[in-house]
Amino acid sequence: MPVIQENINLKTHNTFGINVYCDYFVEINSPDDFLNLLHNKIYQSQPRLVLGGGSNVLFTKNFNGLVIKNQLKGIEPVSENNNEVIVKASAGEVWHDFVLWCIEHNYAGLENLSLIPGCVGASPMQNIGAYGVEIKECFVELEALSMDTGEKRIFSKAECGFGYRESVFKHQLKNKYLITAVCYRLQKNASLNTTYGAIGAELQAMNISSPGIKDVSQAVINIRQSKLPDPKITGNAGSFFKNPEVSAEKHTTLKKEFPELVAYALSGGNFKLAAGWLIEQCGLKGYEINGAAVHLKQALVLINKNNCNGEDVLKLSAYVMEKVSEKFGVMLEREVNIV
Ligand code: FAD
Ligand code: EPU
Repeated sequence: MPVIQENINLKTHNTFGINVYCDYFVEINSPDDFLNLLHNKIYQSQPRLVLGGGSNVLFTKNFNGLVIKNQLKGIEPVSENNNEVIVKASAGEVWHDFVLWCIEHNYAGLENLSLIPGCVGASPMQNIGAYGVEIKECFVELEALSMDTGEKRIFSKAECGFGYRESVFKHQLKNKYLITAVCYRLQKNASLNTTYGAIGAELQAMNISSPGIKDVSQAVINIRQSKLPDPKITGNAGSFFKNPEVSAEKHTTLKKEFPELVAYALSGGNFKLAAGWLIEQCGLKGYEINGAAVHLKQALVLINKNNCNGEDVLKLSAYVMEKVSEKFGVMLEREVNIV
C-alpha cells in the first residue's frame, strides 16, 4: 500500500513555485499502487488531484484533499515494422527524457517537442504542441484507470477529442481517469518538420545544412532557451493563455487598425492571433502585481518574479485579459489549469 503523507508543501511540485500545502500526498509507482489506494478511506473521502511535473497548474490556495503524484516508469517498443515503431511510455516518465530516448533510438516524430516540461501522462491532457507539431500526430492510444472504479480503459485517438491545447480529459472526463501509459507511433525514416520559420533560421545559425532529428531537437532547445524562462530559476507554467482564434471578418477589421498584427490563417478560414503580440501591444511586458509579472522576453508567459502567490498570478491574468479585450475586442482564454 503506498504511504499517504500529511500536510505536504507543494512548492517543489509546481513549476510556478507557488508556496501552498496539500492535506494529503501520495506517490504511486505502479498501477497496483493506485488500485490499492482505491480502498483507502482518505482516497474515498477526499477531493483528488493527479499531478505529473506540475508544469501546467496554478495553485491559488492550499489543496484540501489528496494529491496523487504519478511516478509510473518504463519505456518499451510494443510493435514495429520496417518503417515505424509503436512505443509505450509510462505516465511518470519525464517528457523530455522520453523525447531524448526516441532520438537516441533514431525514432522520429517527437523531436520538435523537445524540452517541454512535465511528464508523459500529461502530454495528451492538452495535446501538447510546439514548433509546428502536436502529439496527436504521433498518438496511437493511451491506457487509463477509472478514478472511481479502477477499471482499465484504452482510449483511441478519436476518443481523446484532441484539439489545439484540448482533449476530452480537460472537460467531460476531467478528474475521471488516471492516465497510466501513452503509445506513440514513430518513424524509422525521418521526414523532418522544419516548416516553423525559427527552426530553419536556427539550423542555419548552427551551420547545419542537412539536419537529422538530433539537430532539429537541438535547434528547438536553443530557441526555447532563448525565449522561455527556466522554471528552475523563475517560476512559470509556459504560455498562460491560448492563442485566440478569430473569424476572417474580425481579422480584417483588426488588420486595418493594426497593420502589424501577428496572425496565422487556419484551414477553415479563421485566423489564429499571437496572444503574446496582443499582450505586448497593451504595454504589459514586465507589468507586475505583488511579485507576479508578465515575462519581459515573452509576454504570453506569466512569471513568479518575487515570491508571489497564486491569487496574484490569477489577478494579473485577469488584468491582462481585460486590457487585451479593451484594446482588441478579443477575449483571451487561460491555458493553465487553475486549482
Ligand atoms: P501537470 O502540470 O502535473 O498536470 C497538468 C494537468 O494534467 C492537471 O490538470 C493534472 O491533474 C493532469 N494530469 C497530469 N498527469 C495526469 C495523469 N497521469 N492522468 C490524469 N491527469 C493528469 N505546453 C505545450 O503544449 N507546449 C509547450 O511548448 C510548452 N512549453 C512550456 C514551457 C515551460 C517553461 C513550461 C513551464 C510549461 C510549458 N508547457 C508547454 C506546459 C506544460 O509543460 C505541459 O502542459 C505539460 O504537458 C504538463 O505536464 P505535467 O506533467 O507537468 O502536468
Ligand atoms: N510575440 C510578440 N511578443 C511577445 C511574444 C510573442 O510579438 O511577447 C510574437 C512573436 O514575435 C511571434 C509570435 O508572437 O511572431 C509567436 O510567438 P512564439 O513563436 O514565441 O510562440 P507563441 O505563439 O507565443 C506558442 C505556444 C508555445 C510554443 C510556441 C512554439 C501557445 C499558447 N503557445 O507560443 O507553447 O512553445 O508557440 O511553437 O500556443 C505552452 O503551451 O506553454 C507553450 C510555451
